[in-house]
Amino acid sequence: MQHIIPAILETNAVDLAKKLKVLAKNTQWVHIDVMDGLFVQETSVSLSALEKLGEAFDYEIHLMVRDPASYLALCQAILAKRVIFHIEGIKDPELVFQEMQKYPFERGIALNPKTQVPAIKKWQRQIDALLLMGVHPGRQGQEFIPMVLEKLRALRMFSPDILLGVDGGIGQDTIEKVFEAGADYAVVGSGIWKHRDPVAALRKLEAMVQ
Ligand code: DX5
Ligand code: ZN
Repeated sequence: MQHIIPAILETNAVDLAKKLKVLAKNTQWVHIDVMDGLFVQETSVSLSALEKLGEAFDYEIHLMVRDPASYLALCQAILAKRVIFHIEGIKDPELVFQEMQKYPFERGIALNPKTQVPAIKKWQRQIDALLLMGVHPGRQGQEFIPMVLEKLRALRMFSPDILLGVDGGIGQDTIEKVFEAGADYAVVGSGIWKHRDPVAALRKLEAMVQ
């Protein structure tokens, strides 16, 4: 079923905890953005902050980092359900996949807006999910890049079975387009958090796609 996953991109554990509290019992999945200051300039709160929080969610961890393999043990410690890493800038994705095989979580690749689909062809059999970035990674609140819709349509046509997510720039004016183009899920940050009542905003978006 097509669905929405709220995104949390935070630099400190207090705000992370606040947002998780808002989402508690209001969503099954939560997308956590992890940034190392190398793959992208920005940094985020350490995943270890989640270890102590104990809210029950299915976590999708989005690793915007240069060395994804070094984060996997921590992803397991917080019982991540799905871990996604960027194929760009990694010397040997095969090594990352080998490491990932030691863990039970679903595996996914994220593609920056400019990265074309052939970059993942070789790895398609190794992954459960593909996350297309609708914005350049690093920040919330950016505008959706429309050419990503074409990539999405092409992928949906040629890989009907793959789980396809879109992340970034999605709000009331873009949500229908992403699902029409074939997304299985949309990751939404500011489209929820900029509203005074984030849960009401989430429900409104959900109502638009169901
Ligand atoms: C961008 C992150 C996104 C972001 C989405 O680097 O990967 O997950 O949190 O936020 P919005 O929806 O505001 O673009
Ligand atoms: Zn993300």
